[in-house]
Amino acid sequence: MPLLLVKSPKKMQALAESFRADGKIIGLVPTMGALHEGHLKLVDIASKKADIVIVSIFVNPAQFAPGEDFGKYPRSFKSDCDKLEKRGAHLVFHPSVDDIYPAGYLTYIDVEKISDILEGARRPGHFRGVATICAKLFNITKPHFAVFGQKDGQQLAVIKRMVRDLDFDLEIIKAPIVRRETGLALSSRHAYLSAEGLDKAKVIGQSLKLAQEMINKGERNPLVIENRMRDLIQSIPGANVEYIAFNRWDDLEPIPTRWVGHGEQAKLSGQVMISLVVVIEGVRLLDNVILKIGRRSQ
Ligand code: PAJ
Repeated sequence: MPLLLVKSPKKMQALAESFRADGKIIGLVPTMGALHEGHLKLVDIASKKADIVIVSIFVNPAQFAPGEDFGKYPRSFKSDCDKLEKRGAHLVFHPSVDDIYPAGYLTYIDVEKISDILEGARRPGHFRGVATICAKLFNITKPHFAVFGQKDGQQLAVIKRMVRDLDFDLEIIKAPIVRRETGLALSSRHAYLSAEGLDKAKVIGQSLKLAQEMINKGERNPLVIENRMRDLIQSIPGANVEYIAFNRWDDLEPIPTRWVGHGEQAKLSGQVMISLVVVIEGVRLLDNVILKIGRRSQ
C-alpha cells in the first residue's frame, strides 16, 4: 500500500476507527522527523506486530523550553516520507501546530516527580510537553501499541507511567538504542555537529561501555564508576560532562553515588539506568544503558 499522508486530526481519528472496525492492529511510532536509522528501527519493530504502522512527524513546540532549538530543529519532511515508504510504513500523520494546539488550548499532562529529575530538571516543562503530545497522539491515532526508543530512557519511563496512571488502553514497547559502528547513539541533533565533533562524541558510548565492563568485573560502587567515566570523557578536549546519573529502572528512583547514611557507600543492584549528557560544540548529547545488576560486590 502506498504511504498515506494525513494532516487533519479529525480525519486521522476517523481512519483509525475504520482500521479498528476492520480488525486491524495499529502500531504508532511517534517522532519529530529528521529520521535516521534509529527511528527506522522503531518502524521495523512496529511492522512485526501491526497491520497498520502509523508514524507521526510533528516537531512539538510544547516540549521545547524558551531559548531551545524549536525553530532550528532539523526538518526534512520529503526525505522522511521517502525513507518511511521504503521501510514499509503505511501512514504518516503530520499535523500543523494549529491543528494540535488551536488558539485557546489549555490542557497539559504533568507526570509528577519523574518528570522533574534528570532531563526534566534541566529542561523545565519538557516532559509536560512530551506527555501532552503523546496523550494527544494516542487519542488521535488510536494505536494498540506505540514504540519508543530506549535512547530517551526518561521519556520512555514518563510515558509508561502516564499510560499506567491514566488507563490508556495501549502497550508501550521499548526499542533498543541504535548506534553507529563507533558506539555513538544516533540522534537527529548530530546535524548540529561538525565531523570533528561527531568523532569526539564517540567517547559517550565508550564511557557507557566502560561502566558496563566495570560492573561485569564486579564493581558496585557508583561513585567509582562515575569518576572513571568522567576521566575518560574529560580526556577528550571539548567534551564536557553535564551529568552522569544512576537511577532505578523504570521508576527512576535516584541511586545516590555518595554516602547513603551511617557511613555506608551506595551499591548498585537490580535494574539500573546509567544516563549521561555530554556537551560537545554546544550540543547536548544524551545516552544511557540499562543493566541488570546482581548483588555481587567486590
Ligand atoms: P524524536 O527525538 O524524533 O524520537 C522519536 C523516537 O525515536 C523516540 O522514541 C526516540 O527515543 C527514538 N530514537 C531516537 N534516536 C534513537 C536511537 N539512536 N535508537 C533508538 N531509538 C531512537 O522523542 C521524540 O522525538 C519526541 O519527544 C516525541 C516522543 C515524538 C514526542 O514529541
